[in-house]
Amino acid sequence: MTSRAFQPANLGPVSLRNRIIKAATFEGVMPAGEVTDDLVEFHRRVGDGGVGMTTVAYLAVSPEGRTDRHCILLAPEVVAGLRSLTDAVHATGAAAAAQIGHAGPVANARSNGAPSLAPTRAFSPMGSLTRGATEDDIERITGEFLRRFSLPDSVDTQNIKAKAANGVLEVAIPKLAQVQPQRITVEAA
Ligand SMILES: Cc1cc2nc3c(=O)[nH]c(=O)nc-3n(C[C@H](O)[C@H](O)[C@H](O)COP(=O)(O)O)c2cc1C
Repeated sequence: MTSRAFQPANLGPVSLRNRIIKAATFEGVMPAGEVTDDLVEFHRRVGDGGVGMTTVAYLAVSPEGRTDRHCILLAPEVVAGLRSLTDAVHATGAAAAAQIGHAGPVANARSNGAPSLAPTRAFSPMGSLTRGATEDDIERITGEFLRRFSLPDSVDTQNIKAKAANGVLEVAIPKLAQVQPQRITVEAA
């Protein structure tokens, strides 16, 4: 009998060819936080090795939450690079995941040029003093884990449609009929 580890599984909406998942281990191949060819190749090779899913380590939600300045900041500028990484992994038959996080007290404050945050001011494992997080910091950082936007009054909220496929969320937001451009026939006098 084949071990269950080698049998396919569904992880939420994602189908995995087996249950072997490469854990997040910081790859150290993204100078200045860029998605480099080396990072793509690292994960492509893991996929090629036959895992069900590989995990990119890691994507920081805020600049001071990077482990150091060479850690990827999850921002619009890196989406194209991440897309080429997932395309390369998917081509091997594996799925791709990413660890999204905030390094808190283990962020390298000197490298980031920003204080690392902890529940209270204390010496961090990195040997520098952390700043005690304020309620505003906690609110900001939890917000950075979410993608939220406000809708203008002109939106037809009853007919918003959302579709998630291959890790991309598409949201179609129609305008209300009364704010659509209208043609008015000019009557000749
Ligand atoms: C070189 C190295 C880098 C690591 N980087 C990360 C990381 O970026 N994020 C994380 O959550 N864990 C990281 N880890 C922890 C591994 O994911 C963890 O060791 C692995 O899940 C094995 O689990 P175990 O420690 O319980 O044996 C790293 C481990 C090593 C050895």
